[in-house]
Amino acid sequence: MSQDRLILAIDQGTTSSRAIVFDESGSIRAVAQQEFPQHFPNDGWVEHDPEDIWDSTLEVCRAALSKVNIEKVVSVGITNQRETTVVWDRATGKAIYNAIVWQDRRTAAICAGLRDAGHSETVTERSGLLLDPYFSGTKAAWILDNVEGARAKAEAGELAFGTIDSFLLWRLTGGQVHATDATNASRTNLYNIHTAQWDPKLLEIFNVPEAILPTVQDCASDFGQTEASLFGRSLPIGGIAGDQQAAAIGQCCFEPGMIKSTYGTGCFVILNTGEKAVRSNNRLLTTVGYRLDGKTTYAIEGAIFVAGAAVQWLRDGLGLIKSASETEDLVKSTDGNHGVYLVPAFTGLGAPYWDPDARGAIFGLTRDTGPKEFVRAALESVCYQTFDLFEAMAEDGVRPKALRVDGGMVSNDWVTQYLSDILNIEVDRPVITETTALGAAYLAGLQAGIFESLEDIASKWGCERSFLPNMEDSDRNRLTANWRDAVSRIRKN
Ligand code: G3P
Repeated sequence: MSQDRLILAIDQGTTSSRAIVFDESGSIRAVAQQEFPQHFPNDGWVEHDPEDIWDSTLEVCRAALSKVNIEKVVSVGITNQRETTVVWDRATGKAIYNAIVWQDRRTAAICAGLRDAGHSETVTERSGLLLDPYFSGTKAAWILDNVEGARAKAEAGELAFGTIDSFLLWRLTGGQVHATDATNASRTNLYNIHTAQWDPKLLEIFNVPEAILPTVQDCASDFGQTEASLFGRSLPIGGIAGDQQAAAIGQCCFEPGMIKSTYGTGCFVILNTGEKAVRSNNRLLTTVGYRLDGKTTYAIEGAIFVAGAAVQWLRDGLGLIKSASETEDLVKSTDGNHGVYLVPAFTGLGAPYWDPDARGAIFGLTRDTGPKEFVRAALESVCYQTFDLFEAMAEDGVRPKALRVDGGMVSNDWVTQYLSDILNIEVDRPVITETTALGAAYLAGLQAGIFESLEDIASKWGCERSFLPNMEDSDRNRLTANWRDAVSRIRKN
């Protein structure tokens, strides 16, 4: 097969925007990345300036495209931080408020009110999600209720709502296309994952007018063309998926029972459940894995809000390390955790606890606790949180045999081995760890006819290293019991 055609994947994440050009074999030809500012205007609030998101995206795309022959780029894929909410003016294209980021907890009281009003069951049954400020519905309503005149303009059809994919698509197409894909729609609380449509009852519960919503399309479909002036020629946009679903696609989790875990800002475990939308009894989410040719493949998801962000905190908040890469040597020089446990609930607890009011804490400090113990506790906490998700899945009757991992943290061999030890399963690290961007590229490539099928794509997956569990049951039981005890002490709900 010719290796000449290229795909541009845009990965707009929580802390940085990236653009990666892939060739037909899935190899990387060019990369560009840019961090952008985070805003914390209030306790538990997290915002991004939509213009920072747009400018950084445009710049990284231009930088990556400048390293290849743009004439060979046949399709663009977009993947994005999910749930983060933007409302913009259709006439000007300008956002009417900052993007409210997925981590933002400002709508916790609204969620509690909806729970008290008895809406939990309807919301979970239709959207597959829970009533938590994590999702977009209450964020959109908050913007409409807090920006003067916004609700009236929204009702009049003058405003548009979107997750980041949708906002970027609008900008990339010069305001021509207001659409999203089924995976992003499935993170809003407003989309019925069974009927594959925006749900009138959910719109009523969350008080979001239909007039502001984007059209929901398959993940690989015609999303329009980039405006010619942006990159010197227009490029077809053929794929969109939320970043965690894109990572599952990049990890080729196409069969029911296949499972991946991505360690970025947070950690997100996605288990393919095939054509069946499986309802968790243990507060995991039911979500859209992907939708292709009108057919939805469902997934169960466990979402942890702080993973890599804990390492970022060690670096930027505490100044204990200069870079994340130092943590591996530091942790390897420890002999056990000395009873120190960090619960990094900086923005509350996600699955399976869903406790937006909980806050982080560190336990077990003694006079000889030093930086190394903090580092170790932060790295261990990511593994214990994944353990909690696996326990919840086990209670739902799911016991995966192997886990595919990706994201910045798993380049740390110690973390990946500890994860295998704590989960007591095989943990597989792929050859290409840029799985999120790769998933978006696969979708765009499917649409462009570069890849024939999911089977064709699955044949490209390669394992770089398998980590096998190597810990005594008694140690695992002791460590996880201590972790559980630490979590119980910070719970608010
Ligand atoms: O649901 C939030 C998620 O999409 C953010 O991903 O990679 O920024 O941790 P990440």
